[in-house]
Amino acid sequence: MCGIIGYNGKRIDTLKILIDGLNSLEYRGYDSSGIAFKTNKINIIKSVGKVCELEKKIDSNIKTNIGIGHTRWATHGKVSELNSHPHNVGDITIVHNGIIENFKDIRNDLLKQNYKFNTETDTEVACALIDYYYKKYKDIKIALNHFEKKVRGSFALAIMVNNNDNLYAIRKNSPLIIAKNKDGNYISSDSIAVSKYSNNILYLEENVIAEISAKSVKLFNKDLKEIKPKFTKIDISKEDADKCGYAHYMLKEIHDEPRVFKNTTNQFIYNQIESLLKDMPNFTKYNNIHIVACGSAYHAGLVGKYLIEEYASIPVTVEIASEYRYKKPFYNKKTLVIVVSQSGETADTLAALRMANDDNIDTLGIVNVETSTISRESKMVIYLKAGKEIAVATTKAYLAQITVFALIALNIAIKNKTLSEKEINTILNDINKLPVYLEEIIKQDIYQIIATNIYKNDNIFLIGRGIDYALAMEGALKLKEISYINCQGYAAGELKHGTISLIEKNTPVIGILTDDNISEKTISNLEEVKSRGALIVGITNDTKINNFDYLISIPKIHKLLQPILTILPLQIISYEVAKLRKCDIDKPKNLAKSVTVE
Ligand code: M6R
Repeated sequence: MCGIIGYNGKRIDTLKILIDGLNSLEYRGYDSSGIAFKTNKINIIKSVGKVCELEKKIDSNIKTNIGIGHTRWATHGKVSELNSHPHNVGDITIVHNGIIENFKDIRNDLLKQNYKFNTETDTEVACALIDYYYKKYKDIKIALNHFEKKVRGSFALAIMVNNNDNLYAIRKNSPLIIAKNKDGNYISSDSIAVSKYSNNILYLEENVIAEISAKSVKLFNKDLKEIKPKFTKIDISKEDADKCGYAHYMLKEIHDEPRVFKNTTNQFIYNQIESLLKDMPNFTKYNNIHIVACGSAYHAGLVGKYLIEEYASIPVTVEIASEYRYKKPFYNKKTLVIVVSQSGETADTLAALRMANDDNIDTLGIVNVETSTISRESKMVIYLKAGKEIAVATTKAYLAQITVFALIALNIAIKNKTLSEKEINTILNDINKLPVYLEEIIKQDIYQIIATNIYKNDNIFLIGRGIDYALAMEGALKLKEISYINCQGYAAGELKHGTISLIEKNTPVIGILTDDNISEKTISNLEEVKSRGALIVGITNDTKINNFDYLISIPKIHKLLQPILTILPLQIISYEVAKLRKCDIDKPKNLAKSVTVE
């Protein structure tokens, strides 16, 4: 959620490295930021707001070769300069991602040791605890070792120590990487912040202390024995980290979707059906599936449930990870637990995965970030191949998630012979045509017209039945998160059981109708709200339906693939509405790209 950057090397423009890094991390959390750097002492500069506010406070003439920086997404303590990082206590200065769960107890203990606290944060307590152990043992590595044993929760820490020319790093349940090049060594919570300098990356393991000097990276295990660092070359595409001329990352990522669909499917369909069957896990051995995820990934799971149940006849339950991890799981030896995550670091999803792994249940991660913890810890993994997603509101990763679910359903259907050869060929043909259809949908100019007519409303409803209901929920989340309009995705038949009382003159109701078998029912529900004054927008693949105030027509393809087209207009409408409302589209308020706390 927050972002960490650190540098120790021979370059003297460290402040530029820190600010550049913070700018690229800002998408992860952005209510305040700060840096610490060494001259003849450790200096700290912080600011509330965007990184550009911090930048204004920094004298670009300052030369230093060592420093750390942080973008904060507040968890403990309000958004303020005081609460923002870095924090300093005694000889220790730190930046921290994560939450120290037992910080109140530690704080009480430290108060008895005469420590005083100026902030409401768990981070200041963490800093004081390290200082306490450092003063006690006179050795920073021993101090960090004791710190790791004492605290509960999650942390990724970059640490500076008075009168010590090294940086230190430790982590638990929150990612941290170290990168190196001939100029020096870098620490970050996300490889994107160092992609300009190096693709030679070390993923710091838990319970390992990193000592980073200007020239070397040394690692120490929990017994403080030195262990060999393992750097790997990773592929960080510059194009992914760039807006490529688009006004926003979200718009660029929407335009990426035709290419993403090809990348996702090409992993499995390069040799017609044979490759699809060969390269996927063997799903036919499971008699039930649990899909566990958060936010949009959870909505993708709902689409997955419809597709797998319809085409593969395996019962699927879809659960929100923060609920699943604390309830009694009803799985058996033939259960597959699928966790879905763009970032691969979502704390609740990771906890659900670990729970299933601990219970010896087969687990499959559907993940975008290939180097993430969920990728590494899932017993089986399918990558989304969506490329780096920077906008907080997910678009292309969601599209890749529902694409993977369509491929899983197809894989099982082929193996179980629940689809005819003719239908399989239709699906394979549609897969080939789909990128062009996506391009055509993007090019339509109806979205701005619709946005102009709905953007001033306080409430918007999206309704659908079956798989269209799952898409309505995702469309509503998209609108909510970037345009701050109260928006609900509803099962079309359910409105009249209460919610219809909210319909007033001109309340927008967006109906999604892509399934011939039930479209008529949804049309009746739209008529019901229209007669109460609602403004009706229809998204349909049925050329015969046209009784809407505004109509978005999308191509009709096989039902297994239809959601991949249907979601696109919803994403574009959200973007256009947020633009008209002058919202910060890529960094909506209160949100963070990767939710690494509970
Ligand atoms: O990285 P993940 O896919 O695990 O993230 C899950 C949710 O936090 C995420 O989908 C969130 O709902 C997005 N902001 C939605 O656009």
